[in-house]
Amino acid sequence: MEDMGEGEEPAASLHFVGMKEDLIKAKRSFRNLEGRDILVLYHQEIFYALDFHCYHAGGPLQNGDIEEFDGKLCIVCPKHKYKISLAEGEGIYRATNPYAPVPTTRWYSKGIKQRVHTVTETDGVVYVTLSHMSRFIESDYFQGEKGKVERERM
Ligand code: FES
Repeated sequence: MEDMGEGEEPAASLHFVGMKEDLIKAKRSFRNLEGRDILVLYHQEIFYALDFHCYHAGGPLQNGDIEEFDGKLCIVCPKHKYKISLAEGEGIYRATNPYAPVPTTRWYSKGIKQRVHTVTETDGVVYVTLSHMSRFIESDYFQGEKGKVERERM
């Protein structure tokens, strides 16, 4: 979470998502910003914002447990237990490479799979700026028809 300096006006791309104390109390909040479903969550004194629906099959991330895996704080989708890092939206999994000379279980990354957004707080008011990373990210698929069309173009 970033703090803005005193007297700075929030830029137009910032979306008001709530008062800090209300969001802390709620811990997890649904917001629809520019037609996009977003999960705003508060965990260990940090706000995060990410696409609301899991990139795998649209599972309800708001009900996922938060745990640390491979040094990364992740939300675990309750539907099929996929792990998504809160800070980057990275999909991670633990596996064993059977072809390795000494097969060892370790963590692997699938890369960025869930779109994450920027959270900003000023004077007790919390804003989200939507990610404008231009490439298709798998969680886009569950954000309406536009996401589905973009995936078909890949
Ligand atoms: Fe989230 Fe399958 S829908 S893990």
